[in-house]
Amino acid sequence: APIQPPNLSKCGPPSDANTGESLNVNCCPPANQPVDYQLPKPTVMRFRPAAHLVTKEYIAKYNKAIQLMKSLKDDDPRSFMQQANVHCAYCNGAYDQVGFDDLDLQVHNSWLFFPFHRWYLYFFERILGSLIGDPTFGLPFWNWDSPKGMTFPPMFLDQNSSLFNAKRNQDHLTSIVDLGYNGSDDGKSPLQTVANNFNIMYNEMVRNVKLIEDFMGQPYRAGGAVNPGAGAPERGTHTAIHLYVGDPRETRREDLGNFYSAGRDPIFYCHHANVDRMWKIWRDLRGSKPKDFNDKDWLNASFVFYDENAQLVRVKVSDTLSNERMGYVYQQVDIPWLNFRP
Ligand code: C2O
Repeated sequence: APIQPPNLSKCGPPSDANTGESLNVNCCPPANQPVDYQLPKPTVMRFRPAAHLVTKEYIAKYNKAIQLMKSLKDDDPRSFMQQANVHCAYCNGAYDQVGFDDLDLQVHNSWLFFPFHRWYLYFFERILGSLIGDPTFGLPFWNWDSPKGMTFPPMFLDQNSSLFNAKRNQDHLTSIVDLGYNGSDDGKSPLQTVANNFNIMYNEMVRNVKLIEDFMGQPYRAGGAVNPGAGAPERGTHTAIHLYVGDPRETRREDLGNFYSAGRDPIFYCHHANVDRMWKIWRDLRGSKPKDFNDKDWLNASFVFYDENAQLVRVKVSDTLSNERMGYVYQQVDIPWLNFRP
């Protein structure tokens, strides 16, 4: 059977997903009964731009939207804090699986990773758009798979911006990201780092992901234990960026370096937009090969989120297969690693 959405009224205290230690935070959203979500027919497409290519006007708009989100009351499910807590609640054992009180619900390290985060960004983006009255607003993506995008997008480094966050690795603010980062710097030159990044991208997008589960992650069904296995991109570049950005001065490498706090850094959503873009690119690269699991336990797995009207909605994996149907597209940019067959 498919994983069911959590019962919000049974949300409990979270714990560190790495160490199991309890965390002294409350990340439970207000409890409500969900309604089934109907994907609206997209009338205008939202355009998600590469973060290093955006205009001044876009930056001002984005900055404004995040600022408005941060100024909503903490108990408003659309507020920045509540949005950040979505990640904590779904990823740090705050929820049990419905019907299995001894099993945590966990959306990482399984085939739920891509669909869950796609929905998460979807509502985050719609809330931002509604706060600035712009139904075409699209999140930027951190284009870390392309040389010009391999440093922090500058807009996130401006101390006066709502996009700024103090808890980041200060040694990494202007260097080239290492997509193989696992916690310590290894002294590669910038040129070597770029070549190594291409190599990693090629392996995790082409060479090592022939089976759907190689890319998407392993099956996770009702009654199953957490963490059956991550797909290559989740395990690889996705986690590398989390660790690379997280602040080693903080106990748990906050913010980006730990599930419970990752959503508190605005760059989280920009990073995940690129992760989401990789899902689209990989599906496109499949050509005539099957792109999606044809398994009811995947297609009917569901989650709950608050939408831009602060309504709790129930959403299904089967509605995430096409970003166009969900009403957004990515800026087309070069994909330099595609021909970097090592
Ligand atoms: Cu839910 Cu990048 O993690």
